Amino acid sequence: PAKIIIDTDPGQDDAAAIMLALASPEALDVVGITAVAGNVPLSLTARNARIICELSGRPDVKVYAGADKPLSRTLVTAEHVHGSTGLDGTILAEPTMPLQDTHAVDFIIETLRTEPEGTVTLCTLGALTNIALALQKAPEIAGRVKELVMMGGGFFEGGNITPAAEFNIYVDPEAADIVFKSGMPIVMMPLDVTHKVMTLKSRIDRIRAIGRPAAVAMAEMLDFFERFDIEKYGSDGGPLHDPTVIAYMLRPELFSGRDCNVEIETTSELTVGMTVVDWWQVTGRPHNAKVMKDVDADGFFDLLTERLARL
Ligand code: BDR
Ligand code: CA
Repeated sequence: PAKIIIDTDPGQDDAAAIMLALASPEALDVVGITAVAGNVPLSLTARNARIICELSGRPDVKVYAGADKPLSRTLVTAEHVHGSTGLDGTILAEPTMPLQDTHAVDFIIETLRTEPEGTVTLCTLGALTNIALALQKAPEIAGRVKELVMMGGGFFEGGNITPAAEFNIYVDPEAADIVFKSGMPIVMMPLDVTHKVMTLKSRIDRIRAIGRPAAVAMAEMLDFFERFDIEKYGSDGGPLHDPTVIAYMLRPELFSGRDCNVEIETTSELTVGMTVVDWWQVTGRPHNAKVMKDVDADGFFDLLTERLARL
């Protein structure tokens, strides 16, 4: 199985991503989960990551707490989407599994130093603060990761927290800038992809129909999560952002995109956090990311549903 570290700020869609990974042990070895502040403060994301491990029957997974704020900005959170706990929608027990003592940034560095070069993939589902801190402390890790697969950004689709910026990049644009300039091989799942995987009622009902506690809890969380988009935009369901990262690890053929240059806006007041994707290759700047644009949405939900049924 491929070794992955999941860096996350759960979040109902982060929870779905973690469950998809933990339900796929033949393909993915989750060597650790690192929590970062984002959707809700760090104390809650570190708690929520452990709740999801326990719900998945995996209290053995190691969960580490990382950065409690962005590199240089005030933390922006998204309780308006995820609820005050980050996992609103279902009743969840407080976790009993421990939080590891090691700081997430040190765990990331240690793992990349000790595992053979090119064998560990970073799967990031939140702001890139932990990864940027690791790069600042140990720049050599950029050459040791296999790949960084991230949910973040948007180009033709624009932003979701401002007209220009997607939430994960907006929370810590300086961190994203460091990551995109690091030379790590990057795969990016922007809003252009995630807005194509909508939690239609029929899709949530298929998950609920599995009938087991983890799947039912997931369905209830998704009911809560999608109401934000339904109420605000009148859309049919909500975009299931973060599991696209794990689905890519399992079935890359579900996605298509191209190699591009991506730069992060860090100064403009109007467009800070924007991912400037050179999709049409007009700048001649070197490619630094594989940017996805399309996804087989039915294939994605088939995979997610089939895997959740294993938990
Ligand atoms: C991203 O922001 C968070 O609210 C979600 O969990 C996802 O990672 C989508 O913009
Ligand atoms: Ca997230």
